[in-house]
Amino acid sequence: MNVLLIGSGGREHAIAIALKKSPRLGKLFVAPGNPGTADIAENVVLKVTDHQAVVDFCRLMKVELVVVGPEAPLVAGLVDDLEAAGIKAFGPSKAAAQLEGSKGFTKDLCREFSIPTADYERFTQADAAKAYVRKKGAPIVVKADGLAAGKGVIVATSVDEALAAIDLIFGGAFGAAGAEVVVEDFLDGEEASFFALCDGTRALALASAQDHKRVFDGDKGPNTGGMGAYSPAPIMTDEMTARVMREIIEPTMRGMAQRGIPFKGVLFAGLMIGEAGPKLIEFNTRFGDPETQVMLPRLQDDLLELFIACANGELKTTHTHLSSDTALTVVFAAKGYPEAPETGTVIEGIERAAAMESVTVHHAGTRREGLRLLANGGRVLNITARGANPAQAQQRAYAAIDLINWPGGFCRRDIGWRAIKA
Ligand code: AMP
Ligand code: GLY
Repeated sequence: MNVLLIGSGGREHAIAIALKKSPRLGKLFVAPGNPGTADIAENVVLKVTDHQAVVDFCRLMKVELVVVGPEAPLVAGLVDDLEAAGIKAFGPSKAAAQLEGSKGFTKDLCREFSIPTADYERFTQADAAKAYVRKKGAPIVVKADGLAAGKGVIVATSVDEALAAIDLIFGGAFGAAGAEVVVEDFLDGEEASFFALCDGTRALALASAQDHKRVFDGDKGPNTGGMGAYSPAPIMTDEMTARVMREIIEPTMRGMAQRGIPFKGVLFAGLMIGEAGPKLIEFNTRFGDPETQVMLPRLQDDLLELFIACANGELKTTHTHLSSDTALTVVFAAKGYPEAPETGTVIEGIERAAAMESVTVHHAGTRREGLRLLANGGRVLNITARGANPAQAQQRAYAAIDLINWPGGFCRRDIGWRAIKA
């Protein structure tokens, strides 16, 4: 079967590596891909916002399944347009992608179907939001409703900070994503990411991970898309996984089906595990980046078969098989990330790192210029290593990083600290 994978990050490189293991895979195309996917698949230039162009490409190249990596094409309805043209896709419809595209939508679903989450209210007017914040007090969390590239959430430690956040969002700092605001209670506990594959009615627990969002060691500095991750998350025991499936994932599947917008694709739950058990912070309707780079190497099942089953609404598998080791990835970012990453700097020595035992170098934001490899984004490389335990995986990942010569890059030196402590 020929497959088209949409996206260009480390996530897509990891998905491509996993798909390549399937005996059922014919040709793998990646649009636009990156130098990592170019080594194992065929990168293609396609305007992904032009859905007809994607359909035409699939017909021309006999692509039978499209796998959508990032959220933007999902929210833009690419899956709807592919399916209307008779082409199968792994990913939710535009309506189902609201689980990521609108925080208010998800919170209302939680309320209706008794899914544990922080208590909240939705607002379209600053005055009403401010009155609610004054009534509730701090700490409190203020969120732009729509997609804001992970920046639309302000965890306010004081009422004044929350009031300023409301003005910021309604003032247009996040564009249309800030036309509505959700204000919710602050949740205490340990965060974990959990992923389930869904076929519209059934959900299959895939794997857990934890990421490090802050840019500097010790979880300090501004939030980023993620500076590193590891899988599994020690807090996600079998019991906790069963509970998350029962209390969060399955009611979401039922609720979406009941609303006539069944969810198909991968459901990524951001969880806060506190004393009262797991609570939903947010959903994403796609794979995490860099979480995917540490989950998929552990997967022993055929990912393509799972994607096909989800796309066909025929997910019969009841559990996945994951290796019991730890995978850990360190994001090697361009200096200046996240505010102003410096691109175009030269990277040398990734072959040495990739040749190390149990190490994979995922490309995230690189480009080739002749024989040279250049930085071409904020998060540039993901150095991923596996080990018998978190400490060994961490030691291998940093040993591999030390073989790479890239003066223009930096990374955190403490990825996995919580898992190692556990
Ligand atoms: P989100 O984009 O909704 O995942 O939020 C980004 C980050 O903000 C989360 O990963 C949490 O660290 C934090 N956060 C969001 N909502 C809450 C909450 N209700 N209580 C505490 N922290 C939160
Ligand atoms: N690493 C978080 C995300 O993919 O949204």
